[in-house]
Amino acid sequence: MELALYDEGHGYYMTQAAIQDESSRERIGWQGDFYTAPELSPILAKTLVRQVLEIDARLGHPTPFLFVEMGCGNGTFAADFLQHCECIAPDFMSRLSYVLIERSPYLQSVQKSCIQEAIGFLTDSKIRWLSSVDQLEADSVIGVMFSNELVDAFPVHRVRSDHHHLQEVYVDYSGGQFVEKLGPLSSAKLEEYVDQHGVVLSEGQTSELHLAAEQWMTQVAHVFHQGIMITVDYGHTGRDYYASNRKDGTLICYYQHTVSTKPYVRVGEQDMTAHVNFSALAKAGKTWGLMPMGFTTLANWLMGLGVEEIVEGQDQESQEVQALSQLLRPHGMGTTFKVLVQGKGIESVGLQGLRYRAFFDEVL
Ligand SMILES: C[S@@+](CC[C@H](N)C(=O)[O-])C[C@H]1O[C@@H](n2cnc3c(N)ncnc32)[C@H](O)[C@@H]1O
Repeated sequence: MELALYDEGHGYYMTQAAIQDESSRERIGWQGDFYTAPELSPILAKTLVRQVLEIDARLGHPTPFLFVEMGCGNGTFAADFLQHCECIAPDFMSRLSYVLIERSPYLQSVQKSCIQEAIGFLTDSKIRWLSSVDQLEADSVIGVMFSNELVDAFPVHRVRSDHHHLQEVYVDYSGGQFVEKLGPLSSAKLEEYVDQHGVVLSEGQTSELHLAAEQWMTQVAHVFHQGIMITVDYGHTGRDYYASNRKDGTLICYYQHTVSTKPYVRVGEQDMTAHVNFSALAKAGKTWGLMPMGFTTLANWLMGLGVEEIVEGQDQESQEVQALSQLLRPHGMGTTFKVLVQGKGIESVGLQGLRYRAFFDEVL
């Protein structure tokens, strides 16, 4: 998964999609393999601006206010966020420093073009790029860190319960194709993960362990001085993640908006993704002082922030109203996607986005 997505020359996120007539297409969006909420409309960015302005007030309007977006895709979210701030909050915009953390140099260049086109300037003091969270100084961030659909793109370790022993699923190459082989867990860290998060699988069940996500959350906790971390993604609590009815785990692939469970075809040309274990993320952050403040569905979070006011007066057929009904429809993205909010050195009660909690806190 690490190579298929991130190999420098051939990884899915490191290159442009190869298509026959030599024209190009992006991987994320309607012309690509899957779409994300920011590609659907600016509604997520606009709603997040509301939440960020509330946090800015709680932090006493610092200069600079750092907004760190991690895993930035085509740069659409950043462009919409910056445009909206410019429009409704010029004072905040003047204090804002926007950092995009993006692993793929190719996507960094896509993001630069997108933002340049949308807002017309790219000064280093206002907007800058880094390739990894640990390039931020420890204990330095005052503001908000945010990711949408980043954690589901981290490589996972797959495991299977075989004769009541937890085995790792290795990938081998034989007879001209990739094949799976079972063997003992490849590192002591995986054993620790299993113990710490109480992973118990039923016989024959396959699932995933998320070391990369855990390591990332630890890095995030270390760079925070004061502020809030908002993670949006599809996923479950640990208890639901490893429930025995989830027999085959959550690893899936996307190619031209078609879902498959075949990771060994179109390697490097299709997306691979696994659902997020939010309990493990919350626990990893808490260990390093980033405290869980709330966990809710994306729909409840949007409603808590008064998303309907953003589209008030717009035509029912407008892109934003259509996108919102897509996000809020029963069993749509708004319920599949969850929002985890964690904080350091900041009052946790009463955040607008957490007004309607879908779950009790202990659920994590
Ligand atoms: C599924 S895409 C989501 C893109 C965007 N957030 C959106 O919602 O459209 C995942 C993004 O995370 C980036 N990424 C993956 N691992 C990363 C890491 N360790 N640090 C920073 N970016 C990463 C990928 O290159 C890609 O831009």
